Amino acid sequence: MTKRVAIFISGGGSNMVRLVEDMQAGGHAATPVLVLANDAEAGGLKKAAALGVPTAVVDHRPFKGDREAFQAALQAELDKVQPDILCLAGFMRVLTESFVAPWEGRMLNIHPSLLPKYKGLHTHARALAAGDAEHGCTVHLVTPALDDGPILGQARVPVFAGDTPDDLAARVLTQEHKLYPAVLRRFAAGEQARLDL
Ligand code: GRF
Repeated sequence: MTKRVAIFISGGGSNMVRLVEDMQAGGHAATPVLVLANDAEAGGLKKAAALGVPTAVVDHRPFKGDREAFQAALQAELDKVQPDILCLAGFMRVLTESFVAPWEGRMLNIHPSLLPKYKGLHTHARALAAGDAEHGCTVHLVTPALDDGPILGQARVPVFAGDTPDDLAARVLTQEHKLYPAVLRRFAAGEQARLDL
């Protein structure tokens, strides 16, 4: 039974594109059924449409901080397409327990650090400030605690002298684009053993 995947984005959606392209490449247990953004200007929406994936927008701003109402609107869009798996890919809104709990075990996220190091924002600058010799990205199951769920995969990159946060972000992003599709392909096939690239 092909698994139905919805993907949440907030911006360019480069991770979303790789996930969709890999699902469309064949031999994959999942198919993309929705790309949803919290901003109508998100560049990833056009990319998703060009790949033939239905899109939706639920702008968080009209909800003026009413997280529960925003999350109910998100869930209403998901109810329309009945996904089996939800992937967060560059989605920059915090989701609370009331949204996450029903999805626990079926909701994935990619975070640009080697969790549990550097939960939250500005991960590349923090790794540089700490003088880390390596950095990377993590795909994990989403739980109500931010950036904290069981790890499904990690990819590592070296940190070079003189790296700026942008240099490091670009190096990590190339690994994200390999790791997330590989993890989703396995996850959709029922494999949850950790993948380290
Ligand atoms: C990526 O660095 C990702 O790790 C983070 O958001 C950034 C943008 O992702 N979650 P994308 O290009 O929108 O997929």
